[in-house]
Amino acid sequence: MTTSRQKAQKLLQKMTLDEKIGQMVQFGRIKDKERDFIAQGKIGSFLNSRNVGLVNEVQHIAMEKSRLKIPLLIGSDIIHGYVSTFPIPLAEACSWNLKLIEESAKHAMTEAASEGVRWNFAPMVDIARDPRWGRIAEGAGEDPYYGGLVARARVRGFQSIGKDGYPISAACTKHYVAYGAAIGGRDYNSIDVSEHELRTTYLPPFKATVEEGVMTFMSSFNDVLSVPASGNPFTIRKILKEEYKFKGFVVSDWESIEELIAHNVADSRKSAALTGLNGGVDMDMHSGVYHDHLKELVKKQPHLESLIDDAALRILTVKYELGLFENPYTDPKLKDKVILNKKTVEMTLKMARESIVLLKNNNVLPLDKKSKLALIGPFADDPHTPIGCWGAACNHENTITVKKAFENANLDFEYQAGCHAVDPKKKWIQEAVSMAKDKDQIILTLGENNDLSGENNSRAFLDLPGAQLELLRALKVLNKPIITLLFSGRPMTIVETVDSSDALLAVWHLGLSSGTAITETLLGLNNPSGKLVTTFPKTLGQVPLYYNHKNTGRPSFRRYVDFDVSPLFPFGYGLSYSKFVYSNLEIKHSVIGKKEPLELSVEVLNDSDVEGKEVVQVYYKDLCAQVTRPVKELCAFEKVSLKAHEKKKISFTIEQTQFGYYTAAMKFIVEEGGFALWVGPNSQEGIASEFNIQ
Ligand code: GLC
Repeated sequence: MTTSRQKAQKLLQKMTLDEKIGQMVQFGRIKDKERDFIAQGKIGSFLNSRNVGLVNEVQHIAMEKSRLKIPLLIGSDIIHGYVSTFPIPLAEACSWNLKLIEESAKHAMTEAASEGVRWNFAPMVDIARDPRWGRIAEGAGEDPYYGGLVARARVRGFQSIGKDGYPISAACTKHYVAYGAAIGGRDYNSIDVSEHELRTTYLPPFKATVEEGVMTFMSSFNDVLSVPASGNPFTIRKILKEEYKFKGFVVSDWESIEELIAHNVADSRKSAALTGLNGGVDMDMHSGVYHDHLKELVKKQPHLESLIDDAALRILTVKYELGLFENPYTDPKLKDKVILNKKTVEMTLKMARESIVLLKNNNVLPLDKKSKLALIGPFADDPHTPIGCWGAACNHENTITVKKAFENANLDFEYQAGCHAVDPKKKWIQEAVSMAKDKDQIILTLGENNDLSGENNSRAFLDLPGAQLELLRALKVLNKPIITLLFSGRPMTIVETVDSSDALLAVWHLGLSSGTAITETLLGLNNPSGKLVTTFPKTLGQVPLYYNHKNTGRPSFRRYVDFDVSPLFPFGYGLSYSKFVYSNLEIKHSVIGKKEPLELSVEVLNDSDVEGKEVVQVYYKDLCAQVTRPVKELCAFEKVSLKAHEKKKISFTIEQTQFGYYTAAMKFIVEEGGFALWVGPNSQEGIASEFNIQ
């Protein structure tokens, strides 16, 4: 059986230099000039052409007019849904349901593939510890281990096998690497991360996707170890292609090769092209520097052709793996059956239900269906915000808002916006207060609209924008139960909001079925099971604040003269309408020999009348190592369903490599010695124990 790589090698031998370079070129718009380039074999890919008619048209040019009939690869950003919008990735990650996350990715990509998109610029796997950074919304939070598992699930979903026996798309792990470490949380900013920190915190989710078989990577805008990621031979050639043995191809982020000039590591588009090629970037997204300059560079430095051969080979291999040579076309009628189909819409609801995090509940939830409700706030009737930061091809008219869902559920409510989402001058507070006077409870929608997170949307403040706090304070005076729904693409500084609310749900930007999932949760039809994957700080001054921090030499010393260092809500935190009680933590062998796994079990009781799901989390600490290690690290978890008053024994088998680390010399080791262990509902609570490796 001839492999895709062998087929690509055979084809490569027939190709001219122009045609090889053509595979390394990706453009966006499609005009007559680009159509001519396709016919000449000088373009290999387009991005964001989300129209099956156009995609089939340009594929026909490639397959009928070009000399070697090499199909085009069409890429786009299907970050959380295509037309049927799913919760933002940060929200999905709070579900801790890897199977559901994989299903969500598969459904989203199936919709996009029906329009000819066969390459997805996702998953975004950047570890993010700074909530000022707008793109924290696109990832899976602050933990490298959990981030790696979510990344794997998304790769499996995006690359799941379609009816024709080929992957429905190639996934693209991004943004390689450490883009989320932007100083000050300012998007596109420099990072200052050591190689040790790279390998310990930022690289693990990327490595996990290589092990999962991801077909492509995207190099990022930022510099890494003072060399721009989109021209960095150490991170791309040495670590990714040699050490991780990645056989797919690397595309630059949008014009990030040409941006090497702005990074002042290139003084012309030609030298930028050379730096990108030497750096191991195989395809140039949209800048045209490879298209314009690689040929003349090879004329002057013939050895460069071997790098071009390797890049073209990687790209052609992916095209064979996708079956594009056999079938480059998409049935134009397919999208009518696929897009917004019942199963996919149901999946958006399932995903949204499990992405909601209950952060406070003074026994005011679930609501009585007969309650007279005041529905207030700027997001209650807003169909745009739930779409989140990457709406792809979605249409806000499909969004089920909270107001719409209240109507569908025939609830007894009145609605007032109360204030604008961001403009402090636009407020209608008295109208809201007087409407609420004769109601039983206030359902208050607060937070951020979807323009305040995502790419190039970092914030210098994490507070409620506009007149939202003024609205809350005015409603507080009524002394009625306030149930706050926090719409956001990030953790926010909401101490007063939490104090003034009798219940608070983080509802993020939940996608198409947002209102339905929220209403079901308020009524107890959905028992919230989400757990945070990013720390909520009390104040911006604490940022960056994350659970897996170092102990330091003076752990008991105060860190601020004027504030504490505890979070508002820690990593892994989330409540339920059920009450889970942990007991009987047992470690099978508290001393384990070389390579032996750690086996443990714990009992969890649902001490309530309500069936629910609990994410049982296992954390460890290396008590003595050659380098400083975090005070706690997640090493296993399981999401379990428990009926009312049911008790289950949950067992874990954890491979020793989970407890390994990189030495100062960058050698990964698993070391003998003592370890502390905790099993519980979040990163701050749990039953403690210990074990030894010898
Ligand atoms: C953007 C983003 C990247 C996206 C690419 C193509 O600038 O950084 O995540 O995949 O361009 O849209």
